[in-house]
Amino acid sequence: MGDYDKFYEANKKLWNARVQPHLGSKMYNLEAFKNGKSSLAEIERQTLGDLSGKDILHLQCHFGQDSLSMAREGANKVVGVDISDVAIDTARSLARQLNIEAEFMCANVLKLEKIGDFDLVFSTYGAIPWLPDLISWARIINQNLKPGGQFYFCEFHPSMYILDFDSKEMSYDYFTTAEPIMEIAEGTYADADAPIKMEEYSWNHGISEILTPLLDAGLKLIKIQEYDWSPYNCFPNMLNVGQGKYRMDLPIRFPHVLEMVLEKPIN
Ligand SMILES: C[S@@+](CC[C@H](N)C(=O)[O-])C[C@H]1O[C@@H](n2cnc3c(N)ncnc32)[C@H](O)[C@@H]1O
Repeated sequence: MGDYDKFYEANKKLWNARVQPHLGSKMYNLEAFKNGKSSLAEIERQTLGDLSGKDILHLQCHFGQDSLSMAREGANKVVGVDISDVAIDTARSLARQLNIEAEFMCANVLKLEKIGDFDLVFSTYGAIPWLPDLISWARIINQNLKPGGQFYFCEFHPSMYILDFDSKEMSYDYFTTAEPIMEIAEGTYADADAPIKMEEYSWNHGISEILTPLLDAGLKLIKIQEYDWSPYNCFPNMLNVGQGKYRMDLPIRFPHVLEMVLEKPIN
């Protein structure tokens, strides 16, 4: 693989800068979360079912709201991992403040080794565009699952990322490119007015580029579903099409979210 460290470093700076505005944003609604509201969206809550007693590894946990929500639902152990030290410090301090037991690790998920035998590895919305190498990613997920354990994946659909969100023109490759997509991120998806203007480096991944490494690593596909709405109003000019459902204003029914569950076979 190429030398991606300079891209990881730039992305880490960007994510560090995003934490503070996100804490005050409507989207992350920290006040409601502190008062007990789960940050999990309806899609994953329905699929995940009962989390009690589970050991969970949350990849790219940001400042830990979903990790802490899963801990509040009765998980036995939750470990959240993120490259942003500001996000991890914030997650630890929220856990302390709310008296929720969870561990947080500052690490690049692509450089993780085996840290446990988890019942569930969890990765959602806006995580994989920051990863250039889904073969290592899939190997790390498989390594950290116990036999019979599941990988839960729910992401913005790969088709979304071909669009320029303002013009809605098809502007980016659907498939992974060797070179990252470099853009200047202004504001953030949760607070357009946040005083941020920084470089970001991301990679698109088509469905087979996501799924095949997971199957090759030995996981078995249990569920795949596409949704024509997003639970987050995080792209420009989305329409509210129902309770907690947002859609880009496009002339066709367009996939917004891709959800998959894969299982590590018992033998
Ligand atoms: C959109 S947020 C994920 C939010 C997620 N839906 C959640 O549970 O809160 C993307 C996260 O990925 C993290 N990230 C980006 N590149 C990473 C990497 N190589 N290793 C670990 N975390 C990374 C960022 O710091 C950021 O917190």
